[in-house]
Amino acid sequence: SVTKNIVVLPGDGIGPEVTSEAVKILQAVCERHGYKLETESYDVGGASIDRYGRPLTQETLEACKKADAVLLGAVGGSQWDDQPKDKRPEAALLGLRKELGLYANLRPIKTYEPLLQSSPLKEEIIKDVDIMIVRELTGGIYFGRPRLIEKTNTGERGVDTLVYTTEEVERIVHTAFETAAVRNRKVTSVDKANVLDSSRLWRRTVKKSAKQWPEITLEHMLVDNCAMQLVRAPSQFDVIVTANMFGDILSDEASMITGSIGMLPSASLGKEHAMYEPVHGSAPDIAGENKANPLATIASVALMCRYSLDMPEAALEIEEAIQTTLKDGFRTGDISTDPSSEYLVDTEEMGSAVLKHLNPDLQPGTFL
Ligand code: NAD
Ligand code: IPM
Ligand code: MN
Repeated sequence: SVTKNIVVLPGDGIGPEVTSEAVKILQAVCERHGYKLETESYDVGGASIDRYGRPLTQETLEACKKADAVLLGAVGGSQWDDQPKDKRPEAALLGLRKELGLYANLRPIKTYEPLLQSSPLKEEIIKDVDIMIVRELTGGIYFGRPRLIEKTNTGERGVDTLVYTTEEVERIVHTAFETAAVRNRKVTSVDKANVLDSSRLWRRTVKKSAKQWPEITLEHMLVDNCAMQLVRAPSQFDVIVTANMFGDILSDEASMITGSIGMLPSASLGKEHAMYEPVHGSAPDIAGENKANPLATIASVALMCRYSLDMPEAALEIEEAIQTTLKDGFRTGDISTDPSSEYLVDTEEMGSAVLKHLNPDLQPGTFL
């Protein structure tokens, strides 16, 4: 349709700072491509706890269900850490993922040429990296029952349950193989099948399903080895498909290939709904200082244009604008390496720089 309805959930910490930059960009590409952008903002996480006593209200959830897509900043902060688990900010995120059926979390990790120096890893190790982590998002240890802390005769015990069903594995494998089919046709399934039964089922199901995509190379890797390989030789990977918690951990690790967690976008997709969010959290240590890198959230809006808004050209334009902005030397603190040849900018200035680079009349290099 001509109107794009987006629900914005800024959340906590740096969430509001990074989402407002991303909305500026979304507004600009919608205008350029002849769409009207309508955004509605709702409190979520700690902000919602403070206002309504709950991390996620029914009204917010209903609004998300009606929207063309949801943009989320981040949730969480130490002031809410002592709440019971269903009253913690993070419960909002888990509730949204579950209620919206967002079982597939895509986390692309691609090196930006201008940031080769920003990574703690050597340039020759990271230069050709282009990975898509496909993280299962509504199952596994995040959602298994029972889950509790209880008293015992001698103290207490805490219990979490790790469950995967064939159906859950089959649908995430489907996403992974379809993704690999339009990329470099290689899938690495990451598990802990040498120890966990849920992983043995995972691996068996992946093997069986993979027969539908004979043109795609499948390999299996144990998660501990994968963590090591991501640092040793990350360019060996194309698509990584893995369980909820493994994907959470491996993607933060892989973010350092790009130079910063502040660069990594994500798309959480289901059959009917979609939510876009940076991989990073609310960064309480820099919140409120206008210091956060907004590029992960801006790149998440590019993914939104591609997967939810039927604006593939806009997605490319945003990604290109991020590239040229970096090429022209704009750096937030987290990706700065050589302040003498760079523009050290704050969150808002970085957003504005990307906005300017979106303008096709400006040649790259205009700013330095
Ligand atoms: P974090 O990602 O918030 O921060 C880790 C480190 O990375 C910090 O030093 C932070 O300053 C830095 N960082 C993160 N994003 C950045 C950005 N855009 N620009 C520059 N630097 C950035 O992880 P954490 O500290 O472990 O968690 C803080 C809170 O965020 C916790 O409450 C956690 O539950 C929550 N969290 C939320 C989400 C989410 O909402 N999607 C994701 C991860 C963590
Ligand atoms: C992420 C976050 C969340 C997760 C937390 C905040 C619930 O770390 O999106 O990566 O573990 O999925
Ligand atoms: Mn995480």
